[in-house]
Order: sequence, then C-alpha cells, then structure tokens
Amino acid sequence: MNQSSNWDPQIAQNAIDELKGQPGALLPILHKIQNILGYIPKDSIPMIAKALQQTSAEIHGVVSFYHHFRTSPPGKHILQICRAEACQARGSRQLEAHVKDSLKVDYHATTADNTFTLEPVYCLGNCTNGPNIRVDDDIIAGVTSEKFDVIKEQKNTFVVELA
Ligand code: FES
Repeated sequence: MNQSSNWDPQIAQNAIDELKGQPGALLPILHKIQNILGYIPKDSIPMIAKALQQTSAEIHGVVSFYHHFRTSPPGKHILQICRAEACQARGSRQLEAHVKDSLKVDYHATTADNTFTLEPVYCLGNCTNGPNIRVDDDIIAGVTSEKFDVIKEQKNTFVVELA
C-alpha cells in the first residue's frame, strides 16, 4: 500500500513544530498526527526522528509498542469492543466472536470493504450496561449479536448513501 500519496506531510510537520519543544514530545506528536490523519504514516517517522534527534527505529519501536497507534489508514468507522471484566461478565466474548466472524477481521484490522476498523478497548465507563461497544464517538450499550447486526447494516447503508 502506498501511504505517502494519501496524506500531506505538512500536517506531520506542523504537529512536530508545535510540540517538539515539550518534554516527552514524542507521544503528544504521535497522538496529534493520529488524531488528524487517523494513523501514523510510515513516512512521518523519519520526520519525527529528525526533529527529536532519535533514530527512525526508536520512533517505530514506540509506535509498535502502543496498540493505540495505527500504521495504516483506518476504515470509515472505528468499531471498539469493550474487553474489560464487567463487559466480559455480560457476554462481550460471545459478541466479540460474532463481530469477528461477521466482519471477517481480527482486532487491529480493517474490513475488506473499508467500512470498519476493529479495535479492543478496556472499559468505556458504562460497565453496568454492557456489553458495550463504541462506534466512532458513540457508545452503544447492551449489544447482542442481533443488535450488532442492525448497527452494522445501518453503518453500511450510511456509507453507501454517502458514496
Ligand atoms: S467494563 Fe465495559 S464499559 Fe466498563
């Protein structure tokens, strides 16, 4: 995949220039780039390394260490399933198996139609109403397999309407 054609390096440079003077600037820079672009483009790593006087390997090591950081563009929707204890006690493991089977992806992957990127999350602060998922900015409680199928259909329809 050619990531470099899909993003403007100036975005990374702006984040670097704004934050490089902070102590511990690396994580804020990475967060800012991902917040804007949805992921950390491979080609931004040498830019960050140069600004922070580190090696690209060191920057890459940090990006790979934190699952939060994506190294490829996400799908149209970020779908997170809560894997923390309270949601597990309320059936999130069965939900997780259904979602993976339905979307044909594992965690940290994007569906073939680019609709969903599936990610785990550890507590969404709504523990008594689990299993909980988050789709983009919306937390959805009490998600059964059937309820997920409806959500999936709605998001697919929404994407088709926008296309
Ligand atoms: S355990 Fe899932 S929301 Fe807290």
